[in-house]
Formats: sequence, structure tokens, C-alpha cells
Amino acid sequence: MSMSEDLLVKGVRRLEWAESHMPVLAEIGRRLVEEKVLKGVRIGMALHVEAKTGMLAVTLARAGAKVRLASCNPLSTDDSVALALNKKYGIKTYAKKWESTEEYYGNLNAVLDMSPDYVIDDGADLITILHTERTDLLKGVKGGNEETTTGVIRLRSMAKEGKLKFPVISVNDAHMKYLFDNRYGTGQSTFDGFMNATNLLVAGKRLVVAGYGWCGKGIAMRAKGLGANVIVTEVDPIRAIEAKMDGFEVMPMLQAAKVADIIISATGCKDIIRLEHLRVLKDGCVMGNSGHFDNEISKKALESYAGPPKKVREFVDEYTMPDGRKACLLSEGRLMNLAAGQGHPVEIMDMSFSIQALAMEHLVQNHSRLKPEVYELPKELDDLVARIKLRTMGVEIDALTKDQVHYLSTWQEGT
Ligand code: ADE
Repeated sequence: MSMSEDLLVKGVRRLEWAESHMPVLAEIGRRLVEEKVLKGVRIGMALHVEAKTGMLAVTLARAGAKVRLASCNPLSTDDSVALALNKKYGIKTYAKKWESTEEYYGNLNAVLDMSPDYVIDDGADLITILHTERTDLLKGVKGGNEETTTGVIRLRSMAKEGKLKFPVISVNDAHMKYLFDNRYGTGQSTFDGFMNATNLLVAGKRLVVAGYGWCGKGIAMRAKGLGANVIVTEVDPIRAIEAKMDGFEVMPMLQAAKVADIIISATGCKDIIRLEHLRVLKDGCVMGNSGHFDNEISKKALESYAGPPKKVREFVDEYTMPDGRKACLLSEGRLMNLAAGQGHPVEIMDMSFSIQALAMEHLVQNHSRLKPEVYELPKELDDLVARIKLRTMGVEIDALTKDQVHYLSTWQEGT
């Protein structure tokens, strides 16, 4: 077999494996096929191009949508899956691993060339291009979905300035997304990336988690389970207390950097590690990022302080500081769980992408009633995904009695 045939077989297997572990999306997909709501609808997608994303694209295409897909990150594509989507599944996919900046934007533009009716974005780059360089296409776009915290923050600020031109559903804010994807998904996939990149031990090390949002919580929880001594850094006083009461040490980064064997950022903000931290960083510290953008660990600061790095493994760059201390950066500071790992576990993305599919159906059915704002998904659709998921897990739960329903709806009845 040639190398590209090998790659194709690998991609098809990965997609089939994902499909066989995504029963919730499959059930929603079967209904979408029957109901034909998406027939002929053009959907432009910018998501991390790997097997689970592939199954979302395939599900929408099987339901009759015309789909194009690009990556939302230059380093997160699984080339085997991109090839299989193009060659076997007929999904026009514009993505490859290690894209240059020009290729990355070229691919997003290739998706937009289809004049999408709807977009699905992760991080809001696709939607930003639509509102800046491709404004000619805006009038045709009826709505969009946004997958992640960083993207939702950007879109809310666009909406606040009155710049957003179509309704967007914040998929991220659905309970069935952030409670599981951001916490258990990032918790597991961060260490998938860490181990694949470094083959190093976590147990017994001081591991600093920057940010105690849902992603940081998941990373800290899994780091503890792997035997690390976990330190959390935060700027939010309430989250800092949460971290403390969850049993972690909490301190400023300037203090944490001096003792850190491993630092993992998941804040959604920039410059979490900057020059002042590099000056005191513990020799041999390994740093990685699981936030959306590669600006959490400042590469500018690293390169101006330590000069260009030496590649010591596929996803590990080693920097030597002026006094001889060394520091390693994983996957060029890009999200290590996708760049060096395989992204969130399949069962997690089954829930996130079921929310995506239902959000798209909701947009198609309701766009004319929606304003150019960022909306949350209706609760009944969140609950629907939870109920299907429970069923596929073989878990039953109780239901309220009529009397209990009445009790919960009145204020007169006390004990
Ligand atoms: N796989 C596809 N999209 C993902 C995301 N946003 N995070 C982690 N894994 C993913």
C-alpha cells in the first residue's frame, strides 16, 4: 500500500471508530435525515479537523446539508481524517497539520467561498473574517454556532459593539457541552497530549494549572489523580477559593513559577507566562497550553529572553535561558490536547456535537425570529441530549410525582 492509501485507511478507521461510539449524535442524525430540515442548506464549518468533528460534518451532510470544513487551528488537524473526509465521505475539507498562517486563512476563506447560509465556528476566526474581509457574504448568512468559551467571549464583545450581523448560538453555554467537554474532556485530553508529547511522568511533580474555570478544574482534577502536587493560579477571587477548598495550593504565578515542574495554562487570556515569570522559572520546567489561542505562554517573551528553541521531540521545543536554565514548550504553545493529542474523548464529543447538531436545526427553523445577538440554546434541547445520553449509558433516573411537581410550583406549602 502507498503512504497515502495507508493514511486513507487510518482516517476511515478513525471515523468509523468515532461513529460507533457516538450513539447520541447518530440518533439525532437519523431524525434529521427523516425530517429533511437541513436539505440543501449550505453550512461552512471551522472546527478542529479530527474524527469526531468529521462525524459531525458527515451527520449534517447525510441530513442533506452541503458542508465545507476547515480547521480552526493550524496544528490540530488529523491528516488521515482530512483525507478520508475528502476521498471517502465527499466532504470538502480544507485542512492539514502544521498549516502556515497563510494556509490557515486560505482554508477558512475556501470554506467561505461556498457562500454559507450558516456557519459553525470554534474560536470565532471564521465569523470574524466574515465581518471584516468577506462582508459581501454577510447578507446571505442566517446564523451561526460557536463552540468554545474564547469564541463566545469575542462574539459577545462584537454584539455589544453592535457589530454582529447574524444570530449566533453559544453551544459552549449548554450544560451538556461545558460541564463535560470543558471539564472531563479537557481534563483527559490535556494529559493525552502531555504524554504523547513528552513520555514524562506526572506523579510526584509540582504541576501548576493556570486558570480554574471548567477546563482548569478538569486539568487539576486529573493531575491530582495522576499523583501530581497541584498548584492553581487565578485572578478571580471566587474561583481561587473553589480551588483552595478542592484541596489545591493557590498562589500567584510569580511564586508558582519558581517551583513548577510542569505548567499548564487554560485561562482564555494572554501573557499568563511572560518575561517576569521566565526570569524565575524552575530549571527544566515543561510548559503547555490547553486554552484556545497560543498566546497564553508568551512565545515573544520566550524568544526574546532565550533565543530560538531547539526541537527535542516532535512536539517539544527546548529554550535555554541566559543563565543556562532550560524550559520546554509543548506544541508551540498551541492547544496541546489537539496539537499533540487526539482531542477530547469520543463519548464527550458525542454530547458536544449533538448539541451542535440540535443548535443548527434550531437556527434553521428559527433564524427569522432571532436578532443579531448571542443566544443560549433552549433548555429543552440541552435536556434532550442529556436524556438520550442517559439512555445510551443504560442509566435510569427518577421522575417527580404529581404531588411533588405541585409542591415545587407553590409557595404556600412549607414542611
Ligand atoms: N475535538 C473536536 N473539537 C474539539 C475541541 N474543541 N476540543 C477538544 N477536542 C475536540
